[in-house]
Amino acid sequence: MKAIVLLGAPGAGKGTLAEAVRDQAGFQHISTGDILRAAVRDQTPTGLEAKKFMDAGELVPDSVIMRLVEERIAQGGPEDKFMFDGFPRTLAQAEMFDATLAKLDASVSQVFLLEVSPEAIVKRLGGRRICRGCGAVYNIAFIPPKQDGVCDSCGGELYQRDDDKEATVLNRLEVYNRQTASLVDFYDKKGVLVRVNAAGTPQEAVRDMLSKLR
Ligand code: AP5
Repeated sequence: MKAIVLLGAPGAGKGTLAEAVRDQAGFQHISTGDILRAAVRDQTPTGLEAKKFMDAGELVPDSVIMRLVEERIAQGGPEDKFMFDGFPRTLAQAEMFDATLAKLDASVSQVFLLEVSPEAIVKRLGGRRICRGCGAVYNIAFIPPKQDGVCDSCGGELYQRDDDKEATVLNRLEVYNRQTASLVDFYDKKGVLVRVNAAGTPQEAVRDMLSKLR
């Protein structure tokens, strides 16, 4: 099994990059944010528990996240390649993840850190719109749909995530700096950290990541 991680602040472009490279590079894209939003939508017990943390821009407890990730990994086989987006997000998650992978004779092979300025991040999150039908992600400032509020691919309605409202965005960035940024050092010391320039267009970020993917 192969595991790589996309690390970066909220709105850095992890989901956009993952969707663009997963087929080209043969990875399954595992986004803990997407798994949680599906659980909230379906009103599962996990979704009901997670919702209050997500709405406040806080992290969902590590125990909940580890259960979701381990369930997802268990669905895969030894030849599978997984790209984790938005996980791990705390040192405790990173250490538990290492232990889970070690049981499968695997380890995190590369961690791609998406580098982009805080100013750009606030603009990206404020302009993000998502299709209710197919989940395609747009940005009214940078990657607009052809017709306002309508998905180019399936004609579905575009909506704004609850946690993309300004007050919650600022808290998410603070939570990232407080609880997640230390993972940069953690993975750098292990020699698996790779920096990706995510400040340009999505295509430039894809090219940069693919040129560094082993
Ligand atoms: P999650 O869904 O993981 O949110 P996030 O990490 O805050 O990341 P985002 O999805 O907001 O941003 P992204 O980096 O994927 O950017 P995107 O590609 O969409 O988590 C949500 C919540 O769930 C958390 O707050 C927490 O509560 C909980 N959670 C999830 N995982 C957890 C965990 N492991 N532990 C605990 N709690 C967890 O791009 C953003 C916008 O910019 C889009 O509009 C896009 O079109 C645009 N864009 C992208 N790239 C570019 C570019 N190069 N140029 C211009 N615009 C761009």
